[in-house]
Amino acid sequence: MADIGFPKGFLWGAATAAYQIEGAVREDGRGESIWDRFCRVPGAIHDGETGDVACDHYHRWRDDLENMRDLGLTAYRFSVSWPRVLPSGSGRVNASGLAFYETLVDALLHERIEPAVTLYHWDLPQALQEKGGWTNHDTAFRFADYAEKVFLRLGDRVKIWITLNEPQVSAFAGHGDGVHAPGLKDVRHAVQASHVLMIAHALAVQVYRQASPAHHRIGITLDLHPVYPWSDGLSDAEAARVADGRVNRWFLDPVFRGVYPKEIVDQFAASGVAPHIDAKDLGVLSSNPVDFLGVNYYFPMRVLASDHDPLLHYECAVHKDREKTEMGWEIYPEGLYDMLIRLRQDYGNPSLMITENGAAFRDSKVVNGQVQDDDRIDYIRSHLQHALRAIRDGVKLEGYFLWTLLDNFEWSFGFSRKFGITSLDRQTLGRTWKKSASWYQGVIASKGERL
Ligand code: FCB
Repeated sequence: MADIGFPKGFLWGAATAAYQIEGAVREDGRGESIWDRFCRVPGAIHDGETGDVACDHYHRWRDDLENMRDLGLTAYRFSVSWPRVLPSGSGRVNASGLAFYETLVDALLHERIEPAVTLYHWDLPQALQEKGGWTNHDTAFRFADYAEKVFLRLGDRVKIWITLNEPQVSAFAGHGDGVHAPGLKDVRHAVQASHVLMIAHALAVQVYRQASPAHHRIGITLDLHPVYPWSDGLSDAEAARVADGRVNRWFLDPVFRGVYPKEIVDQFAASGVAPHIDAKDLGVLSSNPVDFLGVNYYFPMRVLASDHDPLLHYECAVHKDREKTEMGWEIYPEGLYDMLIRLRQDYGNPSLMITENGAAFRDSKVVNGQVQDDDRIDYIRSHLQHALRAIRDGVKLEGYFLWTLLDNFEWSFGFSRKFGITSLDRQTLGRTWKKSASWYQGVIASKGERL
């Protein structure tokens, strides 16, 4: 019998995020976001870049749609900019903001490209940040209100909804390490933000079940990292368990089990950084199951025991001899397989979609104007191969969204890191396929047979 391939109806997609591609930050009534503000902090972003123009997708979305159609994408994941819909975070809806996304959704559907809509990909309205942002419990309710407005408008046509993108990164990079907006450096804030984000997610799911005109599917996207101990020693194994608890289980458990892992709650409490959990919060978490989980996978974590950081008791290390991407991230496609199998085993075999996977490389080899990014092709191919292995081993994987459609504003790295399968000319804003785009087109056309 021939090997099983990708399932029928498997979604072949690409992903983007509003702030990274749209630009037009002051147009048509859009409000300020925390990223607009953060980009103005001296030294925060490589070369002082901003997302003011980004890929100018707001004006050139038709070019991008054509690009998707030529690639043969069957799905496209994008995010709605909250401050475009609600310029001050709550209250008055900006009609042209919602209209922009409605036009995009209709145009995608016209091309038979399934829209997968993320409600929050890091661009909190600045007005809500002034009130404490994600450290303020009320922001969770504001998010649910915002989500409801988008559901009511697009819920009849959009079948795949994602509440949040990578709450781990929002919380810890934004409030602990300070390398993302809003740039805070206080672990207490980070832990509190992680909790408020999870409540926001659960409330949005609740609202979705009540408010959406058609009942399609809603999930959340987490950045997941398989964690491997550096050595066979017991203390590294213990460190790996803790790291896994902090990075993965802290988010997976509330989504699938409605509770936080006790061991990590205890650790946070012992360090004086436990989140403030309202009596009602746990009820909200436990009564709003998702329909699927979005998995963002880029690289594994290898950890060793360390007292360097009294809160963590572990340190991450990177193998010198392993291949890495331009981000310094280890290339380890087996990690994707391991994570998918683990989700199947530990979390009741949920429906899964890979909502992001891809790689930044230098893109220095150019022939006849086309980037020859064989390294990116190898990265994507090997990850798809491991995804297929997981499918063969019983994982319910329904789609793959490559990160990303075109080179864009890569957060604090500005435009210095390129993840796109399409290059962006920063002067003309023209789009040109890289070799990986033609390759991906072939993969999709063969429904994954020609990997
Ligand atoms: C993920 C983000 C995405 C992009 C990729 C490289 O963490 O969700 O916006 O920056 O990393």
